[in-house]
Amino acid sequence: MKQNNDEILLEIKGLTKYFSKSRGFFVKKTSHLKAVDGLNFYIKKGETFGLVGESGCGKSTTGRSIIRLYKPTSGQVLYKGVDLAKLKEKDLKQYRKKIQMIFQDPYASLNTRMTISDIIGEALDIHKLAKGLKRQERIFELLKIVGLSKEHASRYPHEFSGGQRQRVGIARALAVNPEFIICDEPISALDVSIQAQVMNMLQDLQKEFGLTYLFIAHDLSMVKHISDRIGVLYLGKMMEIANADELYNKPIHPYTSALLSSIPIADPILSKKSKREILKGDVPSPLNPPSGCRFRTRCKYAKEICAKSEPEFKEVKKEHFVACHFSSDFM
Ligand SMILES: Nc1ncnc2c1ncn2[C@@H]1O[C@H](COP(=O)(O)OP(=O)(O)O)[C@@H](O)[C@H]1O
Ligand SMILES: [Mg+2]
Repeated sequence: MKQNNDEILLEIKGLTKYFSKSRGFFVKKTSHLKAVDGLNFYIKKGETFGLVGESGCGKSTTGRSIIRLYKPTSGQVLYKGVDLAKLKEKDLKQYRKKIQMIFQDPYASLNTRMTISDIIGEALDIHKLAKGLKRQERIFELLKIVGLSKEHASRYPHEFSGGQRQRVGIARALAVNPEFIICDEPISALDVSIQAQVMNMLQDLQKEFGLTYLFIAHDLSMVKHISDRIGVLYLGKMMEIANADELYNKPIHPYTSALLSSIPIADPILSKKSKREILKGDVPSPLNPPSGCRFRTRCKYAKEICAKSEPEFKEVKKEHFVACHFSSDFM
């Protein structure tokens, strides 16, 4: 964490990803599921950018569109100024090395029929990074970096605990010497006792290798300590972006405030005192999102204008962006 400079590594401009859904039996109708709908943000070199929002808000789709696991519907994904959204498959290869992704469910993301050595070695082979003895040594070195040992190399994913499997996923990502890693809820599926270990390791690795992170989580408490800046996503739209401390202490968007107050408080006395405003209901369907501000159907401050026009995502303070018609009321 903590960037050394303000150099922008990744800039997202107007990123959208729609999924087409066919509906109707006799008359086929295609409708668009607006998973990600016009995002604008940037990530600075060496920082951790936390991306939060409830399940189904488009966090994974954002990550997958950046790394081109999904082809964006429109918009730009500028990595050091090069638009990855428009690159041909063959030109993408060098970026697939620079940008890696760590997934939520390490078991689903590892090939269960391959040994740990083959899983990590495959990444080296794809990018022709090491052969023979060098390859073997590099695999052992990577295992050591993530806190595993040589003895683990010949085993299979099912022989490991969730935490160990996530370590293998991290070793595989590190194998190609990436610059930027998208961590998609990497600790959400792990036991609470293991979460802190993996989190600490990711932070140590960031320092050691000068990595930049996009860290996705569904809950603000998970990204609080590791993020330099945080973006709050709701139904495919960015609601607020600010420096992590500012977002926690002086949130402006009602959705951010609601997410913050839904974090469980361990202290029962504090918990009773604080005015909790729990988010009611579910996130509406991205097939048919609310008009105007997408959060308005769950916002206790919503007024007429919120249904009529979409609030602009604008900078209300230095490096603090908010999409709310009434942002000045909450400042
Ligand atoms: N491959 C896909 N095909 C169709 N719909 C998808 C696909 N991936 C995600 N979606 C839909 O896009 C929306 C956003 O999903 P996702 O990005 O996974 O959200 P999050 O990671 O925030 O939980 C959801 O409504 C989800 O059902
Ligand atoms: Mg997800």
